[in-house]
Amino acid sequence: MKWTIQFKLVSIFSAIVFVGLSTLLIISYNVAEQNMHRLIHDNMLDVKKNLDIAINQYFLVRNKRISEASLDAEKNRLAREVGSVVDGSLAFYSPDGKPLSSTARAMPADALDLNAAMNNQIAYNTSIKNKRVVVTLSFPLETGGSILGIVRYQKEYTHLYLRNLRFQETIKGFAAAIFVFITIAAAIMARALTQPIRQLTRRSAEVAQGNLNVVIDPSTRDEIGELAVSFKVMMDRIRAQIDVIERERDEVRYVQVRSKAFFDNVTHELKTPLTTILGYAQIVKDNGFNDPAFFNKGLEHIIKESNRLNRLVVDILELSTAAPPEYEYRMDIVDLADVVREACEDMLVKGAKYNISINYELQDMLIMQGDRDKLKEVLLNLLDNSIKYGHVDSVITVTACRVAGEYILSVVDRGEGIAPEALEHVFEPFYRSDDAVRNEKGSSGLGLSIVQSIVKQHGGTISMNSRLKEGSTVTVRFPEVRHE
Ligand SMILES: Nc1ncnc2c1ncn2[C@@H]1O[C@H](COP(=O)(O)OP(=O)(O)O)[C@@H](O)[C@H]1O
Ligand SMILES: [Mg+2]
Repeated sequence: MKWTIQFKLVSIFSAIVFVGLSTLLIISYNVAEQNMHRLIHDNMLDVKKNLDIAINQYFLVRNKRISEASLDAEKNRLAREVGSVVDGSLAFYSPDGKPLSSTARAMPADALDLNAAMNNQIAYNTSIKNKRVVVTLSFPLETGGSILGIVRYQKEYTHLYLRNLRFQETIKGFAAAIFVFITIAAAIMARALTQPIRQLTRRSAEVAQGNLNVVIDPSTRDEIGELAVSFKVMMDRIRAQIDVIERERDEVRYVQVRSKAFFDNVTHELKTPLTTILGYAQIVKDNGFNDPAFFNKGLEHIIKESNRLNRLVVDILELSTAAPPEYEYRMDIVDLADVVREACEDMLVKGAKYNISINYELQDMLIMQGDRDKLKEVLLNLLDNSIKYGHVDSVITVTACRVAGEYILSVVDRGEGIAPEALEHVFEPFYRSDDAVRNEKGSSGLGLSIVQSIVKQHGGTISMNSRLKEGSTVTVRFPEVRHE
Protein backbone atom coordinates (compact mmCIF):
# COMPACT_ATOMS: atom_id res chain seq x y z
CA MET A 1 0.00 0.00 0.00
CA LYS A 2 1.43 3.36 -1.03
CA TRP A 3 1.17 6.10 1.60
CA THR A 4 -0.19 8.74 -0.71
CA ILE A 5 -1.26 12.10 0.68
CA GLN A 6 -4.84 11.19 -0.23
CA PHE A 7 -4.62 7.93 1.74
CA LYS A 8 -3.04 9.67 4.74
CA LEU A 9 -5.68 12.39 4.79
CA VAL A 10 -8.54 9.92 4.62
CA SER A 11 -6.97 7.65 7.30
CA ILE A 12 -6.36 10.47 9.77
CA PHE A 13 -9.80 11.95 9.21
CA SER A 14 -11.55 8.61 9.57
CA ALA A 15 -9.58 7.77 12.71
CA ILE A 16 -10.56 11.09 14.33
CA VAL A 17 -14.22 10.63 13.40
CA PHE A 18 -14.16 7.02 14.62
CA VAL A 19 -12.72 7.96 18.01
CA GLY A 20 -15.18 10.85 18.35
CA LEU A 21 -18.23 8.79 17.51
CA SER A 22 -17.15 5.90 19.75
CA THR A 23 -16.69 8.25 22.72
CA LEU A 24 -20.11 9.73 22.04
CA LEU A 25 -21.65 6.24 21.95
CA ILE A 26 -20.04 5.18 25.24
CA ILE A 27 -21.14 8.39 26.96
CA SER A 28 -24.71 8.09 25.69
CA TYR A 29 -24.82 4.44 26.78
CA ASN A 30 -23.68 5.34 30.28
CA VAL A 31 -26.08 8.24 30.56
CA ALA A 32 -29.01 6.04 29.48
CA GLU A 33 -28.08 3.38 32.05
CA GLN A 34 -27.70 5.94 34.81
CA ASN A 35 -31.09 7.36 33.91
CA MET A 36 -32.66 3.93 34.18
CA HIS A 37 -31.12 3.36 37.61
CA ARG A 38 -32.19 6.81 38.84
CA LEU A 39 -35.73 6.16 37.66
CA ILE A 40 -35.78 2.81 39.45
CA HIS A 41 -34.42 4.45 42.60
CA ASP A 42 -37.08 7.21 42.56
CA ASN A 43 -39.72 4.62 41.82
CA MET A 44 -38.64 2.52 44.78
CA LEU A 45 -38.84 5.53 47.10
CA ASP A 46 -42.43 6.16 45.93
CA VAL A 47 -43.34 2.46 46.15
CA LYS A 48 -42.04 2.28 49.72
CA LYS A 49 -44.15 5.28 50.76
CA ASN A 50 -47.23 3.97 48.96
CA LEU A 51 -46.81 0.49 50.42
CA ASP A 52 -46.67 1.90 53.97
CA ILE A 53 -49.86 3.83 53.36
CA ALA A 54 -51.65 0.98 51.55
CA ILE A 55 -50.85 -1.64 54.23
CA ASN A 56 -51.95 0.69 57.04
CA GLN A 57 -55.13 1.53 55.16
CA TYR A 58 -55.83 -2.14 54.51
CA PHE A 59 -55.98 -2.84 58.24
CA LEU A 60 -57.67 0.46 59.04
CA VAL A 61 -60.49 -0.27 56.61
CA ARG A 62 -61.02 -3.69 58.18
CA ASN A 63 -60.84 -2.18 61.61
CA LYS A 64 -57.97 -4.37 62.61
CA ARG A 65 -54.71 -3.73 64.31
CA ILE A 66 -51.51 -4.77 62.66
CA SER A 67 -50.12 -7.68 64.60
CA GLU A 68 -48.34 -10.95 63.94
CA ALA A 69 -51.65 -12.79 64.07
CA SER A 70 -53.61 -10.43 61.82
CA LEU A 71 -50.75 -10.37 59.30
CA ASP A 72 -50.64 -14.16 59.25
CA ALA A 73 -54.38 -14.30 58.67
CA GLU A 74 -54.47 -11.72 55.93
CA LYS A 75 -51.06 -12.23 54.23
CA ASN A 76 -52.31 -13.71 50.94
CA ARG A 77 -55.20 -11.36 50.44
CA LEU A 78 -53.13 -8.41 51.60
CA ALA A 79 -50.41 -9.31 49.08
CA ARG A 80 -52.87 -9.57 46.20
CA GLU A 81 -54.80 -6.38 46.92
CA VAL A 82 -51.99 -4.08 47.91
CA GLY A 83 -49.77 -5.54 45.13
CA SER A 84 -52.29 -4.53 42.46
CA VAL A 85 -52.46 -1.01 43.94
CA VAL A 86 -48.67 -0.46 43.66
CA ASP A 87 -48.41 -2.20 40.28
CA GLY A 88 -46.19 -5.15 41.21
CA SER A 89 -46.22 -8.33 43.19
CA LEU A 90 -46.04 -8.38 46.92
CA ALA A 91 -44.96 -11.09 49.36
CA PHE A 92 -44.41 -11.48 53.09
CA TYR A 93 -41.57 -13.15 54.97
CA SER A 94 -40.91 -13.88 58.60
CA PRO A 95 -38.31 -11.61 60.30
CA ASP A 96 -35.66 -14.32 59.68
CA GLY A 97 -36.42 -14.46 55.96
CA LYS A 98 -38.78 -17.44 55.65
CA PRO A 99 -41.59 -17.05 53.07
CA LEU A 100 -44.98 -16.57 54.67
CA SER A 101 -47.38 -15.76 51.82
CA SER A 102 -47.93 -18.00 48.86
CA THR A 103 -46.83 -15.19 46.49
CA ALA A 104 -43.29 -15.41 47.96
CA ARG A 105 -42.60 -18.55 45.93
CA ALA A 106 -42.47 -16.57 42.65
CA MET A 107 -39.65 -14.39 43.99
CA PRO A 108 -35.89 -15.19 44.15
CA ALA A 109 -35.13 -17.03 47.42
CA ASP A 110 -31.92 -15.36 48.44
CA ALA A 111 -31.24 -11.86 47.33
CA LEU A 112 -29.26 -8.98 48.81
CA ASP A 113 -32.38 -6.92 49.55
CA LEU A 114 -33.90 -9.70 51.67
CA ASN A 115 -30.68 -10.10 53.68
CA ALA A 116 -30.53 -6.34 54.26
CA ALA A 117 -34.17 -6.32 55.45
CA MET A 118 -33.37 -9.14 57.92
CA ASN A 119 -30.79 -6.70 59.33
CA ASN A 120 -33.53 -4.13 59.76
CA GLN A 121 -32.74 -2.13 56.61
CA ILE A 122 -34.68 -0.98 53.58
CA ALA A 123 -33.02 -2.17 50.41
CA TYR A 124 -33.66 -2.97 46.77
CA ASN A 125 -31.79 -5.07 44.26
CA THR A 126 -31.73 -4.76 40.48
CA SER A 127 -30.98 -7.94 38.57
CA ILE A 128 -30.34 -7.88 34.85
CA LYS A 129 -30.28 -11.34 33.32
CA ASN A 130 -30.89 -12.30 29.69
CA LYS A 131 -32.26 -8.87 28.85
CA ARG A 132 -34.74 -9.17 31.73
CA VAL A 133 -34.63 -6.54 34.47
CA VAL A 134 -36.32 -7.34 37.77
CA VAL A 135 -36.18 -5.08 40.85
CA THR A 136 -36.98 -6.40 44.34
CA LEU A 137 -37.53 -4.13 47.31
CA SER A 138 -37.53 -5.44 50.88
CA PHE A 139 -38.17 -3.73 54.18
CA PRO A 140 -39.15 -4.80 57.70
CA LEU A 141 -42.78 -4.30 58.79
CA GLU A 142 -42.80 -3.09 62.38
CA THR A 143 -45.26 -1.77 64.87
CA GLY A 144 -44.58 -0.54 68.37
CA GLY A 145 -40.85 -1.23 68.03
CA SER A 146 -41.23 -4.93 67.23
CA ILE A 147 -40.70 -6.46 63.77
CA LEU A 148 -43.68 -8.43 62.53
CA GLY A 149 -42.15 -9.59 59.31
CA ILE A 150 -40.59 -8.53 56.00
CA VAL A 151 -42.46 -7.02 53.09
CA ARG A 152 -41.04 -7.82 49.68
CA TYR A 153 -42.09 -6.10 46.52
CA GLN A 154 -41.06 -7.03 42.97
CA LYS A 155 -41.47 -5.18 39.71
CA GLU A 156 -40.24 -5.80 36.19
CA TYR A 157 -38.43 -2.99 34.29
CA THR A 158 -37.59 -5.02 31.20
CA HIS A 159 -39.58 -2.68 28.90
CA LEU A 160 -37.47 0.26 30.07
CA TYR A 161 -34.29 -1.70 29.55
CA LEU A 162 -35.35 -2.81 26.08
CA ARG A 163 -36.30 0.72 25.16
CA ASN A 164 -32.82 1.84 26.19
CA LEU A 165 -31.31 -0.94 24.16
CA ARG A 166 -33.33 0.01 21.08
CA PHE A 167 -32.23 3.63 21.50
CA GLN A 168 -28.61 2.51 21.71
CA GLU A 169 -28.99 0.43 18.53
CA THR A 170 -30.49 3.38 16.67
CA ILE A 171 -27.65 5.67 17.76
CA LYS A 172 -25.12 3.01 16.76
CA GLY A 173 -26.70 2.77 13.31
CA PHE A 174 -26.62 6.53 12.95
CA ALA A 175 -22.99 6.67 14.04
CA ALA A 176 -22.04 3.99 11.53
CA ALA A 177 -23.88 5.86 8.75
CA ILE A 178 -22.20 9.15 9.71
CA PHE A 179 -18.82 7.42 9.80
CA VAL A 180 -19.27 5.92 6.33
CA PHE A 181 -20.59 9.21 4.97
CA ILE A 182 -17.71 11.25 6.40
CA THR A 183 -15.13 8.74 5.19
CA ILE A 184 -16.51 8.84 1.66
CA ALA A 185 -16.72 12.64 1.76
CA ALA A 186 -13.13 12.81 3.04
CA ALA A 187 -11.98 10.50 0.26
CA ILE A 188 -13.68 12.63 -2.39
CA MET A 189 -12.33 15.84 -0.88
CA ALA A 190 -8.80 14.48 -0.54
CA ARG A 191 -8.93 13.31 -4.13
CA ALA A 192 -10.02 16.72 -5.36
CA LEU A 193 -7.39 18.42 -3.21
CA THR A 194 -4.53 16.24 -4.36
CA GLN A 195 -5.55 16.17 -8.02
CA PRO A 196 -3.28 19.14 -9.01
CA ILE A 197 -0.40 17.58 -7.06
CA ARG A 198 -0.84 14.33 -8.90
CA GLN A 199 -0.98 16.15 -12.20
CA LEU A 200 2.24 18.01 -11.35
CA THR A 201 3.90 14.76 -10.29
CA ARG A 202 2.97 13.11 -13.58
CA ARG A 203 4.30 16.08 -15.54
CA SER A 204 7.60 16.09 -13.62
CA ALA A 205 7.98 12.38 -14.35
CA GLU A 206 7.47 13.12 -18.04
CA VAL A 207 10.10 15.87 -17.86
CA ALA A 208 12.46 13.44 -16.12
CA GLN A 209 12.00 11.12 -19.08
CA GLY A 210 13.10 13.88 -21.43
CA ASN A 211 9.83 15.33 -22.65
CA LEU A 212 10.26 19.09 -22.27
CA ASN A 213 7.05 19.97 -24.09
CA VAL A 214 4.69 19.12 -21.23
CA VAL A 215 1.60 21.27 -20.82
CA ILE A 216 0.99 22.49 -17.26
CA ASP A 217 -2.36 23.98 -16.42
CA PRO A 218 -2.39 25.73 -13.01
CA SER A 219 -6.10 25.17 -12.33
CA THR A 220 -6.12 26.35 -8.70
CA ARG A 221 -5.03 29.62 -7.11
CA ASP A 222 -3.68 28.13 -3.89
CA GLU A 223 -0.13 27.08 -2.98
CA ILE A 224 -0.33 24.17 -5.39
CA GLY A 225 -1.38 26.56 -8.13
CA GLU A 226 1.64 28.74 -7.31
CA LEU A 227 3.86 25.69 -7.46
CA ALA A 228 2.43 24.82 -10.87
CA VAL A 229 3.10 28.37 -12.11
CA SER A 230 6.71 28.25 -10.86
CA PHE A 231 7.13 24.86 -12.50
CA LYS A 232 5.81 26.28 -15.76
CA VAL A 233 8.18 29.27 -15.57
CA MET A 234 11.07 26.93 -14.83
CA MET A 235 10.20 24.73 -17.80
CA ASP A 236 9.94 27.76 -20.10
CA ARG A 237 13.36 28.95 -18.99
CA ILE A 238 14.89 25.51 -19.49
CA ARG A 239 13.37 25.32 -22.96
CA ALA A 240 14.69 28.81 -23.79
CA GLN A 241 18.16 27.84 -22.52
CA ILE A 242 18.13 24.66 -24.57
CA ASP A 243 17.12 26.67 -27.65
CA VAL A 244 20.07 28.99 -27.08
CA ILE A 245 22.43 26.06 -26.58
CA GLU A 246 21.15 24.37 -29.75
CA ARG A 247 21.52 27.56 -31.77
CA GLU A 248 25.05 28.04 -30.51
CA ARG A 249 25.88 24.40 -31.22
CA ASP A 250 24.66 24.85 -34.82
CA GLU A 251 26.76 27.99 -35.18
CA VAL A 252 29.84 26.23 -33.86
CA ARG A 253 29.23 23.37 -36.31
CA TYR A 254 28.80 25.81 -39.16
CA VAL A 255 32.04 27.62 -38.24
CA GLN A 256 33.82 24.27 -37.98
CA VAL A 257 32.64 23.24 -41.41
CA ARG A 258 33.61 26.64 -42.83
CA SER A 259 37.09 26.58 -41.32
CA LYS A 260 37.67 23.05 -42.52
CA ALA A 261 36.65 24.06 -46.06
CA PHE A 262 38.88 27.14 -45.82
CA PHE A 263 41.84 25.06 -44.65
CA ASP A 264 41.29 22.47 -47.43
CA ASN A 265 41.16 25.26 -49.99
CA VAL A 266 44.33 26.88 -48.68
CA THR A 267 46.27 23.61 -48.93
CA HIS A 268 44.90 22.92 -52.38
CA GLU A 269 45.68 26.41 -53.63
CA LEU A 270 49.22 26.30 -52.27
CA LYS A 271 49.83 22.85 -53.70
CA THR A 272 49.04 23.74 -57.31
CA PRO A 273 51.79 26.36 -57.90
CA LEU A 274 54.24 24.31 -55.81
CA THR A 275 53.68 21.26 -58.01
CA THR A 276 54.29 23.37 -61.11
CA ILE A 277 57.46 24.89 -59.62
CA LEU A 278 58.72 21.46 -58.61
CA GLY A 279 57.98 20.02 -62.07
CA TYR A 280 59.85 22.78 -63.93
CA ALA A 281 62.76 22.68 -61.49
CA GLN A 282 63.11 18.94 -62.11
CA ILE A 283 63.00 19.37 -65.90
CA VAL A 284 65.55 22.19 -65.77
CA LYS A 285 67.81 20.05 -63.59
CA ASP A 286 67.58 17.08 -66.00
CA ASN A 287 67.92 18.81 -69.40
CA GLY A 288 68.14 22.56 -68.93
CA PHE A 289 71.93 23.00 -68.90
CA ASN A 290 72.32 21.55 -72.36
CA ASP A 291 69.66 23.78 -73.88
CA PRO A 292 69.86 27.48 -72.84
CA ALA A 293 66.50 28.36 -74.45
CA PHE A 294 64.73 25.59 -72.55
CA PHE A 295 66.59 26.61 -69.39
CA ASN A 296 65.34 30.20 -69.65
CA LYS A 297 61.76 29.12 -70.34
CA GLY A 298 61.81 26.80 -67.34
CA LEU A 299 63.14 29.52 -65.10
CA GLU A 300 60.47 31.96 -66.31
CA HIS A 301 57.75 29.47 -65.38
CA ILE A 302 59.31 28.98 -61.99
CA ILE A 303 59.46 32.73 -61.37
CA LYS A 304 55.87 33.21 -62.60
CA GLU A 305 54.51 30.47 -60.37
CA SER A 306 56.60 31.72 -57.41
CA ASN A 307 55.05 35.14 -57.86
CA ARG A 308 51.60 33.60 -57.95
CA LEU A 309 52.41 31.68 -54.79
CA ASN A 310 53.63 34.86 -53.17
CA ARG A 311 50.43 36.73 -54.05
CA LEU A 312 48.38 33.87 -52.74
CA VAL A 313 50.19 33.80 -49.40
CA VAL A 314 49.85 37.59 -49.10
CA ASP A 315 46.10 37.31 -49.78
CA ILE A 316 45.64 34.52 -47.25
CA LEU A 317 47.51 36.53 -44.64
CA GLU A 318 45.38 39.52 -45.50
CA LEU A 319 42.18 37.54 -45.08
CA SER A 320 43.29 36.13 -41.75
CA THR A 321 44.17 39.57 -40.41
CA ALA A 322 41.10 41.23 -41.91
CA ALA A 323 38.69 39.33 -39.68
CA PRO A 324 40.24 39.93 -36.22
CA PRO A 325 39.50 42.90 -33.97
CA GLU A 326 39.50 46.51 -34.96
CA TYR A 327 42.86 47.43 -33.43
CA GLU A 328 44.44 46.07 -36.60
CA TYR A 329 42.73 49.00 -38.32
CA ARG A 330 44.07 52.52 -38.11
CA MET A 331 40.80 54.40 -37.98
CA ASP A 332 40.95 58.03 -39.01
CA ILE A 333 38.84 60.75 -40.57
CA VAL A 334 38.80 59.90 -44.27
CA ASP A 335 37.21 61.49 -47.32
CA LEU A 336 35.81 58.52 -49.22
CA ALA A 337 35.65 60.52 -52.46
CA ASP A 338 39.38 61.16 -52.17
CA VAL A 339 40.16 57.50 -51.67
CA VAL A 340 38.00 56.43 -54.60
CA ARG A 341 39.55 59.02 -56.90
CA GLU A 342 43.06 57.89 -55.95
CA ALA A 343 42.25 54.21 -56.55
CA CYS A 344 40.68 54.95 -59.95
CA GLU A 345 43.75 56.94 -61.01
CA ASP A 346 45.99 54.08 -59.90
CA MET A 347 44.06 51.54 -61.98
CA LEU A 348 43.87 53.64 -65.14
CA VAL A 349 47.11 52.15 -66.49
CA LYS A 350 46.03 48.57 -65.91
CA GLY A 351 42.69 49.26 -67.60
CA ALA A 352 44.39 50.90 -70.54
CA LYS A 353 46.16 47.59 -71.23
CA TYR A 354 42.81 46.17 -72.28
CA ASN A 355 41.58 49.45 -73.62
CA ILE A 356 39.18 49.76 -70.72
CA SER A 357 38.59 53.29 -69.40
CA ILE A 358 37.51 54.19 -65.90
CA ASN A 359 34.98 57.01 -65.46
CA TYR A 360 34.26 58.32 -62.01
CA GLU A 361 31.63 60.64 -60.71
CA LEU A 362 32.09 61.55 -57.06
CA GLN A 363 30.23 63.79 -54.64
CA ASP A 364 32.69 65.90 -52.62
CA MET A 365 33.42 65.53 -48.94
CA LEU A 366 32.19 62.05 -48.16
CA ILE A 367 33.74 62.20 -44.69
CA MET A 368 33.79 59.05 -42.62
CA GLN A 369 35.73 57.17 -39.97
CA GLY A 370 37.93 54.58 -41.61
CA ASP A 371 41.29 53.06 -42.47
CA ARG A 372 42.38 54.83 -45.64
CA ASP A 373 44.63 51.99 -46.89
CA LYS A 374 41.98 49.33 -46.33
CA LEU A 375 39.30 51.41 -48.03
CA LYS A 376 41.60 51.89 -51.00
CA GLU A 377 42.19 48.15 -51.09
CA VAL A 378 38.44 47.67 -51.45
CA LEU A 379 38.40 49.91 -54.51
CA LEU A 380 41.53 48.37 -56.02
CA ASN A 381 40.04 44.88 -55.68
CA LEU A 382 36.70 45.85 -57.21
CA LEU A 383 38.37 47.68 -60.13
CA ASP A 384 40.76 44.79 -60.62
CA ASN A 385 37.80 42.42 -60.98
CA SER A 386 36.00 44.76 -63.35
CA ILE A 387 39.08 44.98 -65.55
CA LYS A 388 39.78 41.24 -65.33
CA TYR A 389 36.26 40.19 -66.15
CA GLY A 390 35.29 43.18 -68.31
CA HIS A 391 35.10 43.25 -72.08
CA VAL A 392 37.98 44.75 -74.00
CA ASP A 393 37.15 48.33 -75.15
CA SER A 394 34.58 48.85 -72.45
CA VAL A 395 33.99 51.48 -69.78
CA ILE A 396 33.95 51.09 -66.01
CA THR A 397 31.80 53.61 -64.16
CA VAL A 398 32.47 54.42 -60.52
CA THR A 399 30.10 56.63 -58.50
CA ALA A 400 30.05 57.67 -54.83
CA CYS A 401 27.39 59.86 -53.25
CA ARG A 402 25.44 60.54 -50.08
CA VAL A 403 21.88 59.20 -49.98
CA ALA A 404 19.64 59.22 -46.88
CA GLY A 405 22.40 59.04 -44.29
CA GLU A 406 24.48 56.58 -46.27
CA TYR A 407 27.46 56.75 -48.62
CA ILE A 408 26.70 54.67 -51.63
CA LEU A 409 29.60 53.55 -53.76
CA SER A 410 29.08 51.58 -56.95
CA VAL A 411 31.36 50.04 -59.56
CA VAL A 412 29.65 49.16 -62.83
CA ASP A 413 31.34 47.27 -65.62
CA ARG A 414 30.45 45.82 -69.02
CA GLY A 415 31.75 42.29 -69.18
CA GLU A 416 31.05 38.64 -68.91
CA GLY A 417 29.03 38.94 -65.71
CA ILE A 418 28.18 36.14 -63.32
CA ALA A 419 25.49 33.48 -63.44
CA PRO A 420 22.76 33.95 -60.80
CA GLU A 421 23.58 30.67 -59.05
CA ALA A 422 27.25 31.72 -58.77
CA LEU A 423 26.35 35.19 -57.49
CA GLU A 424 25.52 34.05 -53.98
CA HIS A 425 28.97 32.44 -53.58
CA VAL A 426 31.28 35.20 -54.86
CA PHE A 427 32.04 36.50 -51.36
CA GLU A 428 33.16 33.08 -50.10
CA PRO A 429 36.94 32.59 -49.85
CA PHE A 430 38.50 30.79 -52.83
CA TYR A 431 35.33 30.99 -54.86
CA ARG A 432 35.88 31.36 -58.60
CA SER A 433 33.10 30.80 -61.06
CA ASP A 434 35.23 29.10 -63.67
CA ASP A 435 38.56 27.78 -62.43
CA ALA A 436 40.30 27.21 -65.78
CA VAL A 437 39.70 30.69 -67.18
CA ARG A 438 40.27 32.51 -63.87
CA ASN A 439 43.53 30.72 -63.17
CA GLU A 440 44.95 32.12 -66.32
CA LYS A 441 44.15 35.62 -65.13
CA GLY A 442 45.96 35.02 -61.81
CA SER A 443 42.87 34.75 -59.66
CA SER A 444 42.75 33.14 -56.23
CA GLY A 445 39.10 33.79 -55.30
CA LEU A 446 40.10 35.67 -52.15
CA GLY A 447 39.64 39.24 -53.35
CA LEU A 448 35.90 39.67 -52.68
CA SER A 449 36.03 37.98 -49.26
CA ILE A 450 38.80 40.38 -48.24
CA VAL A 451 36.70 43.27 -49.56
CA GLN A 452 33.60 42.08 -47.69
CA SER A 453 35.48 41.74 -44.43
CA ILE A 454 36.94 45.28 -44.72
CA VAL A 455 33.50 46.74 -45.50
CA LYS A 456 32.03 44.95 -42.45
CA GLN A 457 34.76 46.36 -40.24
CA HIS A 458 33.62 49.83 -41.36
CA GLY A 459 30.02 49.01 -40.43
CA GLY A 460 28.99 48.78 -44.07
CA THR A 461 27.42 46.26 -46.43
CA ILE A 462 28.31 45.00 -49.88
CA SER A 463 26.16 43.45 -52.59
CA MET A 464 26.58 42.43 -56.18
CA ASN A 465 24.20 42.36 -59.14
CA SER A 466 25.10 40.87 -62.47
CA ARG A 467 23.77 39.76 -65.82
CA LEU A 468 25.63 37.07 -67.71
CA LYS A 469 27.43 38.38 -70.79
CA GLU A 470 26.38 41.95 -69.94
CA GLY A 471 28.22 43.11 -66.85
CA SER A 472 28.19 43.48 -63.11
CA THR A 473 27.44 46.11 -60.51
CA VAL A 474 28.96 46.08 -57.05
CA THR A 475 27.30 48.34 -54.46
CA VAL A 476 28.95 49.24 -51.15
CA ARG A 477 27.09 51.19 -48.44
CA PHE A 478 28.73 52.90 -45.46
CA PRO A 479 26.85 54.67 -42.69
CA GLU A 480 27.41 58.43 -42.94
CA VAL A 481 28.62 58.87 -39.35
CA ARG A 482 30.18 55.96 -37.62
CA HIS A 483 29.52 55.86 -33.88
CA GLU A 484 32.34 54.31 -31.97
N1 LIG B 1 33.18 42.28 -61.99
C1 LIG B 1 33.04 40.98 -62.12
N2 LIG B 1 32.55 40.44 -63.28
C2 LIG B 1 32.39 39.12 -63.38
N3 LIG B 1 32.74 38.23 -62.45
C3 LIG B 1 33.24 38.69 -61.31
C4 LIG B 1 33.41 40.07 -61.06
N4 LIG B 1 33.92 40.23 -59.81
C5 LIG B 1 34.07 39.00 -59.31
N5 LIG B 1 33.66 38.05 -60.18
C6 LIG B 1 33.61 36.59 -59.95
O1 LIG B 1 33.77 36.36 -58.60
C7 LIG B 1 34.86 35.52 -58.34
C8 LIG B 1 35.52 35.90 -57.05
O2 LIG B 1 36.14 37.13 -57.17
P1 LIG B 1 37.39 37.46 -56.27
O3 LIG B 1 37.03 37.09 -54.91
O4 LIG B 1 37.77 38.88 -56.48
O5 LIG B 1 38.46 36.47 -56.81
P2 LIG B 1 39.46 36.62 -57.99
O6 LIG B 1 39.42 38.04 -58.40
O7 LIG B 1 40.75 36.21 -57.43
O8 LIG B 1 38.92 35.69 -59.01
C9 LIG B 1 35.73 35.68 -59.55
O9 LIG B 1 36.48 34.53 -59.77
C10 LIG B 1 34.72 35.92 -60.63
O10 LIG B 1 34.25 34.68 -61.10
MG1 LIG C 1 39.56 39.71 -57.48
